[in-house]
Amino acid sequence: MCGIMGYVGSADATPIIMDGLRRLEYRGYDSAGVAVNDHGINVRKAEGKIDQLAALLEDEPLTGTIGIGHTRWATHGRPSDLNAHPHTDASGEFVVVHNGIIENFQTLREELQASGVELTSETDTELLAHLVAAEYDGNLAAAVRAAVDRAEGAYALVVMSDREPRTIIAVRKISPLVVGLGEGETFLASDIPAVLHRTRDFLIIEDDELVTITAEGAIIETIEGDPVEREVMHIDWDAQQAEKGGYEHFMLKEIYEQPAVITETLAGRLDEDGTVWLEDVKFNDDFVRDLGTIWITACGTAYHAGLVGTQIFQRLLRLPTMVEYAHEMRYADPLVKSGDLTVAISQSGETADTLAAARLAGGLGTRLLALTNVVGSTLSRDADDILYTRAGPEISVGSTKAYLAMLVGQYLLALKLGAVTGAIDADRAAQIAQGLKRLPAQVETILEETDDIAAAAAMLADADDVYFIGRGLDYAVAMEGSLKLKEISYLHSEAMPAGELKHGTLALVTKGVPIVVVITQRSVYDKTISAVQEVKARGAEVIAVAYDTDTEIGKFADIVLRIPETEDLLAPVNAVVPLQLLAYHVARLRGLDIDQPRNLAKSVTVE
Ligand code: F6R
Repeated sequence: MCGIMGYVGSADATPIIMDGLRRLEYRGYDSAGVAVNDHGINVRKAEGKIDQLAALLEDEPLTGTIGIGHTRWATHGRPSDLNAHPHTDASGEFVVVHNGIIENFQTLREELQASGVELTSETDTELLAHLVAAEYDGNLAAAVRAAVDRAEGAYALVVMSDREPRTIIAVRKISPLVVGLGEGETFLASDIPAVLHRTRDFLIIEDDELVTITAEGAIIETIEGDPVEREVMHIDWDAQQAEKGGYEHFMLKEIYEQPAVITETLAGRLDEDGTVWLEDVKFNDDFVRDLGTIWITACGTAYHAGLVGTQIFQRLLRLPTMVEYAHEMRYADPLVKSGDLTVAISQSGETADTLAAARLAGGLGTRLLALTNVVGSTLSRDADDILYTRAGPEISVGSTKAYLAMLVGQYLLALKLGAVTGAIDADRAAQIAQGLKRLPAQVETILEETDDIAAAAAMLADADDVYFIGRGLDYAVAMEGSLKLKEISYLHSEAMPAGELKHGTLALVTKGVPIVVVITQRSVYDKTISAVQEVKARGAEVIAVAYDTDTEIGKFADIVLRIPETEDLLAPVNAVVPLQLLAYHVARLRGLDIDQPRNLAKSVTVE
């Protein structure tokens, strides 16, 4: 989604802002712009990639020591130079950038036009610039307060004015905003990686807070004007983690980081005997003993992790577990109640629908557990309990390592719950723990052997449609494999339970149609083999993901992607890895923008 960057200090603001915007590129955007106070507010903005903006700045440079910048992902108004942020008021003295959506956009637009304001763009953001200007009476913070008082919606708003030339004012309502503290300079960004190479000390701005930023630091107040004390958060992430390393794409780098990610997710949390410590999971044993239903809510890849989680919890704990898309759950009047546990899964911790579903569930009396990758994210702050996935910053829009860490997090959670309810006895807990500890080395071996994956990618590269099938946990993995393929290779792909094929989709299976089957679950192995035979009989080309000990599947599948054998419950962690690589290699063969697929954003902070 949109990225925000701001700087005030004594250095040249433009390169610092441009650098920050480039580090936010992974969020997805369609135009970019900067405003610098260079003897007055000056704006440069351009549709397209940041390079276009850089070229513009080369022709018409901006020099100054205070500025703001933005990468826009269109919501109100198409991507264009005019709709790109920043936006100014008519005088050009007030300038704003903004993430999110102003819901009463139409009313405000009509009000402003009726008062004689001429609007130059189609955006909701421009309205805010005019509102701030109209409300200004000698105090920028007060003007911003009055302006946001009139605006409904979810946003992060950043304002700069020539009237108070050494100050940036920002307000947060749902969309994320952080302040980075330097020596005689202060940064503002929509997320931490934008300025992590410049400072490690951050203030996280919360909902309904206003922050006044100067070179000397930042003062946080509530939107009503009450002072707020905020502890400085020191971030230990390695700045290198946010770089591509030696890999061609962030996605590939992140796939190869997965053994380390599993190790990291487990570190200090799991004993050989299956005892689990989760530092920020605070519920007590009584709560667990009386636990009603476990609800899992999430979107996209995180939802697919939840599909795996549902089966883990049901099988291990014998507790009713429901997984719901967050954007469905929030409108479905769910039967969530006190005594239930809601697990909201989100890499970013900022997905608008997931936040809304989580808040709804919390409001209905459940305990809310955030399974998230981002420390200090909104979801983590909303939650009663937090399980950080510790996957490190994920840059590629297509999620890989965060998904794997979400799976591992759910195994840990199941072990923790099962130890209290008694559903998992000591022997079983130890068995699962040992299986989990073997996973990093096993994933490593999958990453070493990629010849078959390359052959499978060549088979899919020119396909029109691909179908993924599996049963039980294999079906959950097939869902993720299919999403990964479609989002980065733009190939039409669908996943379904293997048993569902003959209820309709089989009509589409003809000679040469590729079918990817995930086949690890021994209890339904023969059933899945029957489905493979059905599609083979119709001339399909079959790629299978199977254990390296499986001697049967080679008789039916054209290509077998082998994974190390585990107990079936743990198979999803290994099984998804060849599918991630398959998607990556297909997209590469098709010459696509792998890390930033068209129309998609890393963090979907609007509905
Ligand atoms: C796909 C992908 C998306 C996200 C989804 C939820 O690769 O990354 O489907 O999983 O937008 O995002 P988070 O996990 O940040 O809530």
